[in-house]
Amino acid sequence: MCGIFGYLGKKNSIKACLNGLKLLEYRGYDSAGIAAIKNNRLINFKASGKISSLEKKIHLKHLNLDIAIGHTRWATHGKANDKNAHPHFDEKKHIAIVHNGIIENYDVLKKDLKDKGFKFRSETDSEVIAQLLSKNYKNDLLETTIKTLTELKGSLAIALIHKNHPNEIVCATRESPLVIGFDDKKNEFLISSDLNAFLGRNLNVIFLKNDEIAHIKQKEIKVINLKKQIIFKKLEKLNSKNQNFSKKGFKHYLLKEIFEQPLTIQKAYLGRIFEEKGQVEFEHLNFTKSFLSQIDNIIITACGTSYHAALIAKTYFEEKANILTSAEIASEMRFKNLLVTPNTLVIAISQSGETADTIAALKLAKEKKAKTLSIVNVQNSTIARMTEESIFLKAGPERSVCSTKAFTSQITVLYLLAIYLARQRSMQKKEGMLFLKELKKTPNKVRKVLQISSLIKEKAKKYAKFENIFFLGRNLMFPTALEAALKLKEISYVNANAYPAGEMKHGPLALISQKVPVIAFLANKKTYDKMLSSLMEAKARGALILAFASKNSYGIEDIADDVIWLENTIDELSIFPSSVAAQLFAYFVAVIRKTDIDHPRNLAKSVTVE
Ligand code: F6R
Repeated sequence: MCGIFGYLGKKNSIKACLNGLKLLEYRGYDSAGIAAIKNNRLINFKASGKISSLEKKIHLKHLNLDIAIGHTRWATHGKANDKNAHPHFDEKKHIAIVHNGIIENYDVLKKDLKDKGFKFRSETDSEVIAQLLSKNYKNDLLETTIKTLTELKGSLAIALIHKNHPNEIVCATRESPLVIGFDDKKNEFLISSDLNAFLGRNLNVIFLKNDEIAHIKQKEIKVINLKKQIIFKKLEKLNSKNQNFSKKGFKHYLLKEIFEQPLTIQKAYLGRIFEEKGQVEFEHLNFTKSFLSQIDNIIITACGTSYHAALIAKTYFEEKANILTSAEIASEMRFKNLLVTPNTLVIAISQSGETADTIAALKLAKEKKAKTLSIVNVQNSTIARMTEESIFLKAGPERSVCSTKAFTSQITVLYLLAIYLARQRSMQKKEGMLFLKELKKTPNKVRKVLQISSLIKEKAKKYAKFENIFFLGRNLMFPTALEAALKLKEISYVNANAYPAGEMKHGPLALISQKVPVIAFLANKKTYDKMLSSLMEAKARGALILAFASKNSYGIEDIADDVIWLENTIDELSIFPSSVAAQLFAYFVAVIRKTDIDHPRNLAKSVTVE
């Protein structure tokens, strides 16, 4: 989703912006652009499609400029074309802005500006900001920005430059992340909506909060609020000099991240489990013991893959910790009467920590005075900073638009949290010990799945030709089926429906035929027999069946056309081999269908609009 990158310093600012924008590519976008100041004039380059198309339009040799702002756009208002790509300008082309977020009152403002004679070039809501800045401009960029911000409604992160201020960048934020990095020795300032754009650098960083405005002028940075009060920001250190995004020999980031899972699952529990005591401890969980023991209701909120992890956690929290738990789709929370008591814990799950819907759901929970905890992969992310407590996944940057390693890390952490809470209640030491012992075997069981990837690829060849596929599972295997279907949809563009198998006879069975295969998850012993009956019903209607089953199961090979045998484990942990096998299946189907796996259509890695 949209990304901002700005640069002020002695390097070639346009080149710096191109590099920064490339690091934001993983978020998903459909056009990009850069603006800079040359000889007291604003210049700009825009291109729909990839950054490489933008790069082709720029002759860097003649452009050794100190200041530039860039943007990757994910279309919301208006098509993905050059005209709608950022940066946007005021009519006179004195001001250039890049914007993330949505201006909610843009239509009212646009009408008013048009009535005053302002002419618009694009269909975007963002152009309104540039025109409004121009209307309010009276030689002082800070004053102009403050006045403009008070007229704008909605979420925004902006960076702007003005042709008459060749050594200044102003940026501001409201409900949308913005971080400024600087290197004192090199006199460089970098601005971005995503910390990942600073990868490979050691910098001092500050995060802007709601309605804070940063003025970067030559060698100085000043942060103020709408009342013009100076804000003293906490300096944080980013040490990422030796880090980089690389595919490490894999053809796609997705495959690389699938193969990282034996390690990332381990990283999620290492240092947190004490097998001999059957106990779990987290580094920084500072809720009081009395609150933890009194929690009587947990609300987990998340989107997409993270929501599927929440569904799995719900079952486990209720089963093991005996705590009433609900899993809520974050974008739906605002329409609910959220029932929060003093003993309610709201947990937000997010890989990126920047998902706008999850942020909105969290706000609602905070308004209701709920205690909040986040489970996130990105430290310092908005969600991590919004919640009282955070548990980090430690999975390392997830670059693929499709979330894979974050999902298995989320489940690992959620299981640990369930044990942590359960051991303060009725779970006995022995039960904790047995679970943790089994959990430690999981990375190896996942490794065994990766070892049969060529077999999964063979099966994928047979199923890749279908346009509609049903995914079935029950109990913990139902969210597993939901997640497997989501993976297939987003990278293969196959219409994949996931159902709890028992529901098929209540309607969806009508769709089953020779043209609609079924993919079934049977690694859960509790649901195995019931799953066999459902599969018999599908088979009777001519469906081709591919089953993911544990090695010691019996009977499935007589029903299914194809079986992928997985390592045997306890029901809760069978999600891991099943999900990883399903991720590989989705990956190979996408390879066979020749989709653009690193940039799936219409999708964004970090969904920063509601
Ligand atoms: C699917 C996927 C999305 C994300 C969702 C939430 O592969 O990546 O469904 O899971 O957009 O993102 P986070 O976890 O960053 O809040």
